[in-house]
Amino acid sequence: MHFVFCQVSTNLINAELPDDIAAEYYRKQWDKPGYYKPEHFWEVPLWIAEICGSLKHTDLEYTTELCIITEHDQTLPDGDYYLFSVLDVNKAIVEGIATANPGKIFMCGGYVTNDLMSDPMNIFWYGSIETFIESFHYNYVYDLDYSLFSGMQTIPRLTMSTGCKHHCKFCTVPDELTTLSVCDIRKQIESFECLNFRYIYLNDKTFGQARNWRDLWVIRDVIKQNNPNFGGFIVQTTAAKCKNPAFVRSLVNSGVVIVELGVETYNDDILRAYNKPQNTDTIAQAIYNLYNAYMAIIPNIIIGLDGENTGTYRQTLEFLTQERHRFYMLNIYNLARYGEDGGDTNELTQTGNADDERFYNDVFRLGLEILRQ
Ligand SMILES: C[S@@+](CC[C@H](N)C(=O)[O-])C[C@H]1O[C@@H](n2cnc3c(N)ncnc32)[C@H](O)[C@@H]1O
Ligand code: SF4
Repeated sequence: MHFVFCQVSTNLINAELPDDIAAEYYRKQWDKPGYYKPEHFWEVPLWIAEICGSLKHTDLEYTTELCIITEHDQTLPDGDYYLFSVLDVNKAIVEGIATANPGKIFMCGGYVTNDLMSDPMNIFWYGSIETFIESFHYNYVYDLDYSLFSGMQTIPRLTMSTGCKHHCKFCTVPDELTTLSVCDIRKQIESFECLNFRYIYLNDKTFGQARNWRDLWVIRDVIKQNNPNFGGFIVQTTAAKCKNPAFVRSLVNSGVVIVELGVETYNDDILRAYNKPQNTDTIAQAIYNLYNAYMAIIPNIIIGLDGENTGTYRQTLEFLTQERHRFYMLNIYNLARYGEDGGDTNELTQTGNADDERFYNDVFRLGLEILRQ
């Protein structure tokens, strides 16, 4: 049985996007040392590593192959099953390929906002990797195998916990905090051995909430033994956490070198309205602590929050401009209104609102200046 893992190239997905200031920003962002980006995706596709990992625990006789989709009418290699992770941004491309290959079987999973691609008829949909493995009459076992990407330069993603205890209204992260077992964390670390990386990205949504964050220094030492090029961890966490200097010192001692901080907007009324557990003082204190600890800081900023106007955007921009020498880069997001216009919008385009548009241009211009400093 031959599985062909198909990954649609971001170059094909992004071909429709405007080549504007955001595109320029993203190109430059990946020039930072250690910000390794494979040519065809932001990071090595976790879904492929997870399926390959769980297949190893079955008795199936199988072979695997990676196929990067760079053209709409690409000729597929020979295989028994063609696997895709389908998102709103690549759904039309996958449907087109399945329609053009009626004799082939497409096994798909992922996150799409409307119908689950029941048409064309050669697409089979799986709600999870577990159900995919179970469809071959085996129990799912969590494991990872990146051998299809051996030697590739990337920033691997390590999960120590899932969920977040906060309830910011714009965010869809589940509020149940779950901690991964030591065994599952070890499987992830071992699976990174065939990859070429300088940094590891912690997938935990608010790092420091789950108790096992204190084990990070052990993980740092294990990784360092196998990879002398290892430069440390990138984590995402809240200003409320980093307001505590002792927490920031512990991050440093655990090998964290870059912190992504959910600033979102520098306006107390908007932060309060969205239930964000911080105010502008918390943010300023967090940045002070992180900077004094020589941490590289990346504030997350959202464009399009309700209540933003010329004045509120000016306030955020003034804050970012004033603090720019303390920032490593900016993470800039368009507000995704899940359940309303919904969907997977990991690429930024202008929203059409004049204030949003001005801020979009200003904040990316500032972002470029920060990247150059
Ligand atoms: C995991 S959180 C960041 C770290 C930390 N939990 C915090 O909130 O400070 C990741 C970032 O995703 C962005 N984000 C979350 N929900 C979003 C949405 N609906 N639209 C756009 N950006 C969003 C926010 O900028 C948020 O800071
Ligand atoms: S703190 Fe961060 S992860 Fe948690 S709900 Fe708010 S935005 Fe989401």
